[in-house]
Amino acid sequence: MFVKSTSYANFALVKYWGKKDSEKVIPFNDSVSVTWDIFKTHTILQSASSFSFVLNNNPASEKDSERVKQFLKHFTDDVDTVKVISQNTFPTAAGLASSASGFSALAVAANRFFNTAFDKEQLEAVTRKGSGSAVRSLYGGVVRWRNDGTVETLAAPIEDYVLVVVLLTGDKKVMPSREAMAHTVTTSPYFPAWIDIANRDANTLCTALMEGDFDTVGDTAQSNAMAMHASMLAATPPIVYLKDETMEVIRIIDGLRQNKTECFYTMDAGPNVKVISRKHDLDTVLNALREGGFSDLHVGRPAKRGAFIDDEG
Ligand code: PMV
Repeated sequence: MFVKSTSYANFALVKYWGKKDSEKVIPFNDSVSVTWDIFKTHTILQSASSFSFVLNNNPASEKDSERVKQFLKHFTDDVDTVKVISQNTFPTAAGLASSASGFSALAVAANRFFNTAFDKEQLEAVTRKGSGSAVRSLYGGVVRWRNDGTVETLAAPIEDYVLVVVLLTGDKKVMPSREAMAHTVTTSPYFPAWIDIANRDANTLCTALMEGDFDTVGDTAQSNAMAMHASMLAATPPIVYLKDETMEVIRIIDGLRQNKTECFYTMDAGPNVKVISRKHDLDTVLNALREGGFSDLHVGRPAKRGAFIDDEG
């Protein structure tokens, strides 16, 4: 027996950073993301004589295998008769939301494979235990994950939005986001301010998205990403994900905005930059990045749906 699923990465415009309940994975602040149609995870669950986890064609590390095994225990008491095969179409654990696409793909596949038939709330509650941001990849388009744990989708007019991921490095993160988040919560004097800023930004952003106010979407997303990184920079010891090249990309995007090209940037737990623009400005953005020496560019569009079952048998 087998079940195949696919899910997409989402990138937050207002970030999730900090858990107020680590057990249930309830965030301190609301976050808002867009699920994009690039950077996918394909997952297969199949019956086997013992548990194994194959990630990107290789046996996964003991740590990753254990994390997947523990996750599957939310669906079954018998994890020893399943083989998990997972394939990412992009670098894993480089701040490109591989845990979001990975755990959402795994959650929908497991829900079918083990016949748990979890409803929306139950599936969300389990999925976020794999990775908080994964709960947002259960859905397409704009998704808001609230600080009470609930999730909603927003029918915002974002059909002409485009994403350009500026890949600076596919290297593993300096620190996994789970650890970095906990470290920020406990040691950063800016963390209380971050919670207020992010909850306020989520409201501003959702209104701007619904009203098609691209300028405000951009201003809010950029300052929110910077506020998250500021909270980490103020931790002891500091967490520094951004690199010199990140700053160079930011300068290019700032320059474009000053010349009335509609675009903005955001960064997650890594140095890579995600630039969001609109179809009519895409070529201008791509050309400016190429002229600046950045050639590893990946273009995506909003995904119409989140994690889904591809096939089973
Ligand atoms: O879901 P996690 O534990 O990988 O955390 C994701 C954290 C950020 O990507 C930095 C922000 C976000 O909201 O996706």
